[in-house]
Amino acid sequence: MIDPVRYLSNRSSGKMGYAIVKAALASRHEVVLVSGPVALSPSDGAEVVSVESAEDMYDAVAERIGGVDAAVMTAAVADYRPAKVSDDKIKKSGERLVLELERTRDILGSARDLMAFDGVLVGFAAETGNIEAYARGKLERKGCDFIVANDVSQEGIGFQSDQNEVTVFYRNGSSQHLPRASKKEIGESLVKIIEGVLVARRAGS
Ligand code: PMT
Repeated sequence: MIDPVRYLSNRSSGKMGYAIVKAALASRHEVVLVSGPVALSPSDGAEVVSVESAEDMYDAVAERIGGVDAAVMTAAVADYRPAKVSDDKIKKSGERLVLELERTRDILGSARDLMAFDGVLVGFAAETGNIEAYARGKLERKGCDFIVANDVSQEGIGFQSDQNEVTVFYRNGSSQHLPRASKKEIGESLVKIIEGVLVARRAGS
């Protein structure tokens, strides 16, 4: 929130995240969906935790992540929030208004160290260029098992669309391209990949 009537947000519709939830439920997994405000109805069967701010999402994830085998972070969480929320509606005055922003906490980046999560950790990377380099940087810094990168500058995929096209980057240096398909199909492929990582981890332990 900036003041009681205005807020900062972004173009994410929730479609990608909700498609993953649907695919996980169809594969008979138990699902906890922590969701920001979107205009979608969650599939029946998921435990739904509705949050508004990045801070609320951090707390909701921190509270629940200990009990899950895999955590998938699809949300386009704000990196910055207004440093001060005005109690009253900000009135028009002068030609410019400067908003001071401060960093939010990184939920995905806190999962390993601060939340002590040792399950399968999946991040997303929304990029507009240098996709592999930025995605691999996030994979490393945030301690993910793999990261799902999408080029959000491309027409018809990424934010709001019903389709996506992603590349999955793994810790061992390999990658897997999932060509343009419905978010439903991409969600199903990602759930299969997560199941494979879980099976491999269990076999290795
Ligand atoms: O919702 P749709 O309209 O269907 O669009 C789908 C999508 C484009 C939002 C989705 O495919 C996607 O790319 N999601 C990640 C968006 C994003 O915030 O990416 P990022 O590169 O800025 O963040 C990297 C990772 O860190 C993400 O997993 C993000 O959830 C996480 N993060 C970021 C900031 C923060 N404060 N906490 C986080 O956990």
